[in-house]
Amino acid sequence: MSQSEPVHGGILIVDFGTQYCQLIARRVRELGVYSRITAPDMALAAFREQRPAGVILSGGPCSVYEGDAPHLAREILDQKVPVLGICYGLQWLSHTLGGRVEPAKDSGGEYGRTEMELTGPSALLEGVRARSTVWMSHGDKVATLPPGFTVLARSGPCPVAAAADDKRGFYGLQFHPEVSHSEQGDVVLRNFVVKIARAACDWRPGHIVAEKVRAIAAQVGTQGEVVMGLSGGVDSSVAAVLIHRAIGARLHCVFVDNGLLRQGERDVVEHLFRDQEHVDLRIVDARERFLRALDGVDDPERKRKIIGKVFVDVFREAARDFQRAHFLGQGTLYPDVIESVAAHGGATAVIKSHHNVGGLPEDLDMELVEPLRDLFKDEVRAIGRELGLPSSLVDRQPFPGPGLAVRCVGALSAEKLEILRQADAIVRDEVETHALHKGLWQWFAVLLPVRSVGVMGDQRTYAYPVVLRVVSSQDGMTADWELLPLEALRRISSRIINEVKGVNRVCLDITSKPPGTIEWE
Ligand code: XMP
Repeated sequence: MSQSEPVHGGILIVDFGTQYCQLIARRVRELGVYSRITAPDMALAAFREQRPAGVILSGGPCSVYEGDAPHLAREILDQKVPVLGICYGLQWLSHTLGGRVEPAKDSGGEYGRTEMELTGPSALLEGVRARSTVWMSHGDKVATLPPGFTVLARSGPCPVAAAADDKRGFYGLQFHPEVSHSEQGDVVLRNFVVKIARAACDWRPGHIVAEKVRAIAAQVGTQGEVVMGLSGGVDSSVAAVLIHRAIGARLHCVFVDNGLLRQGERDVVEHLFRDQEHVDLRIVDARERFLRALDGVDDPERKRKIIGKVFVDVFREAARDFQRAHFLGQGTLYPDVIESVAAHGGATAVIKSHHNVGGLPEDLDMELVEPLRDLFKDEVRAIGRELGLPSSLVDRQPFPGPGLAVRCVGALSAEKLEILRQADAIVRDEVETHALHKGLWQWFAVLLPVRSVGVMGDQRTYAYPVVLRVVSSQDGMTADWELLPLEALRRISSRIINEVKGVNRVCLDITSKPPGTIEWE
């Protein structure tokens, strides 16, 4: 399965097992410079392929003197390209080049905010105040620097907070410039990436689009055809538009209406792709098929599995109509494919594989076209804007693959899904029309499988409750519940009760994650 051509230049980041690796990559990209993460045992090959302007060695949980501490090929230091070691990266550099690393026994290590003091002027720390706050997290320290190095800064318990061997282009920081608690970390990273390594600052949306379109055209060739599933989400949409720019009518998109979509979703996709972008779009109405397969199923995981399987079957059948398509387009993002080392020691590369559209099986035997596989979500959004996609799509809230099925608690029915769809549309309308979603991660309705008594007019009602779920989050891993303004809550409650038949109560979910999850199933 070959991938698109790699991007050359930029910064190569070697992951020694830090939790901050993606953050380093993002900080570099925020400078407008391409960056890529690799595992230590693949670093030399990645270097030769990428030909970066500079290398950053990340931190990691190990000590260099532990038997299973991660190492990388020493040749990487002979490439005449500047190298910056951060934390463990600095210790590995020191250890490898003839310095001495030892446990910071006397101080028990250094964790959290620390004051750093410069010892003299340097290219690496140019523009950093004489005293500034940095974020440390290390148990070992460099006791003796290798020959050729000088100390650039120190902190209380740490004699070497920053060091350099300008002549050979080796640099090291004991602190973490990538975390926001390091006051001028951005200045230090910029000094290394832009001034010392002289990496080209050309990683901008316009440049990325041109680069991607060129790479897709090269991969698919002049005759190749691509089939891909559109979910209506930002990733598959941006990927499809990029592929379409590259190969036009040789892209065939399949949108599966599984009956679990939100109100208007199918129309939006149809309008955008067929009418505006003129993409060859096949809409498969599989609503009944999904509902039949899910009949009577109330276990959340079984629901997910069934939805995944039916999607694959439906997609496979639709794709048969495109016999000439030997390529499969996917909206896979970089965080899904980053090669990362196991948390402790062993440099085993773990490749997480994730399929945006329902999980397509390997045996489709097609070559993947994944134009977003080296991009972060915010970069994908920026590209979406560059491509002229509407904000309603580019900035839309995450929507789970199994759709409304995991918000309609218990066994599904067409009636319940329709009630939920209407209630959810009101929540979205009120939040989005009044621009209340700034800072929010998701805002939606959940339908519970119980009924309670109410009264409307002179009538007694016996109907379902709807739960309003509004959360903030950085990445969906943890989340806080959020309270909409009281006026908005009043409007949402009143509209749902009055406009949606079958609902007589609106409740608020005020549970964070953990202990709750964002979705109800
Ligand atoms: P939870 O409910 O686990 O959700 O707190 C975290 C984030 O992931 C989304 N989510 C899913 N996305 N398939 C998806 O594509 C799923 O099965 C799925 N389950 C949850 C959820 O919307 C939230 O943003």
